[in-house]
Amino acid sequence: MLRIVVCVSGGGTNLQAILDGVETGKITNTEVIAVISNNAKAGALERAKARNIPGIVLSPKKYSDREAYNQAFTEKMKELEPDLVVLAGFLVKIPPQMVSAFSGRIVNIHPSLIPSFCGVGYYGLKVHEKVLERGVKVTGATVHFVNDGMDEGPIIAQKAVCVEEEDTPEILQRRVMEQAEWILLPKAIDDIANDRIRIVGNRVCSVAGGNGK
Ligand code: GRF
Repeated sequence: MLRIVVCVSGGGTNLQAILDGVETGKITNTEVIAVISNNAKAGALERAKARNIPGIVLSPKKYSDREAYNQAFTEKMKELEPDLVVLAGFLVKIPPQMVSAFSGRIVNIHPSLIPSFCGVGYYGLKVHEKVLERGVKVTGATVHFVNDGMDEGPIIAQKAVCVEEEDTPEILQRRVMEQAEWILLPKAIDDIANDRIRIVGNRVCSVAGGNGK
């Protein structure tokens, strides 16, 4: 059983896709053991509560400096001992000590086709604003492992989504979620839970005959 901790900052629709995936059997061999938020008001915490999953709030604002927060966050994660950490709309940079303690065991969902529209300053609605500003015709989402860089770790899966002429950032964000994010992230977790993928250098490869489907 893959024990996962999901980190969130906002509304939590990606968390919901994970919870629904576990409930309906789209995600197998997986248990969500806790949800961590940097934001006490995150709607995602309500979604966790509705499924009796412990919600933990760890806000950088409550610590004297970033290093103190990084230590506390990493210690909490070590205490929870997850097999996988899932960043599902989490707006805080993962501390370097957590990246090394959980090497190859942290995944993130990013709402663009990496390496386009990613890195510093590209988060949430801003990604879709930049996509529309640039006028690209295709965008999408990416699930990747997390390393020390910003949106630079090995890519697990990507899905393209068309940009339409009438799009606003909000409309495009919703389409990217519906057509890509809510599908890719549950599938990636299921693949990891059933040993269907492995990291080779900076590439993620399929494992033939992985356990399960
Ligand atoms: C998603 O678009 C995610 O890719 C991005 O932030 C958004 C979070 O949405 N990083 P939600 O909280 O899962 O609804």
